[in-house]
Amino acid sequence: MTGRPNLVLIGFMGSGKTTVGRRCAQELGLRFADSDSLVERKAGRTIAEIFAEYGETDFRSREREAVGELAAQKDQVISTGGGVVLQEENVTALRATGLLIFLNASPEDIVERTSGRSHRPLLAGAGNPFDCVRELLGQRMEIYLAAADVVLDTAGLDRTEVVERVKCAYLRQADTALASR
Ligand code: S3P
Repeated sequence: MTGRPNLVLIGFMGSGKTTVGRRCAQELGLRFADSDSLVERKAGRTIAEIFAEYGETDFRSREREAVGELAAQKDQVISTGGGVVLQEENVTALRATGLLIFLNASPEDIVERTSGRSHRPLLAGAGNPFDCVRELLGQRMEIYLAAADVVLDTAGLDRTEVVERVKCAYLRQADTALASR
């Protein structure tokens, strides 16, 4: 497949994947794609509605389909939903055409950024938001780390610094990473 490798952002809800992804796409001259938005467009429903009407398993299968479509093209920055790494098939597909960069945000930053949690069904339940984030993050951390080509700790960095570091990692590593797959 011709084209430049994809730049794929993975990480927990509220880690900045969409904002950072849009800016990187603009600055690198790549298309921007978001797996959650594709799921929503294809379903004609929001993620919250899909969870409420059909449940998480159904959402995960829609997510798999959307990821498969996106990973079949190049020249894109792809922002993924926070749970995309839970299905190995997604990681395999994304790695075949892209460099996976994990935006590793602190639980404090995540709680702050997801405080209006109504559109995020997995955080919308009862309970202390901090405990909820910590627990899910604890369950997923190893999976993010295993999937990632590059880990970027974002604590203490502003958005512009994150964008610069992501772009830099992509420009330095994407071609070599893909050639060795
Ligand atoms: C999810 C993260 C969400 C969305 C869905 C499930 C998760 O995406 O895909 O609510 O399992 O972490 P964001 O990471 O963009 O919020």
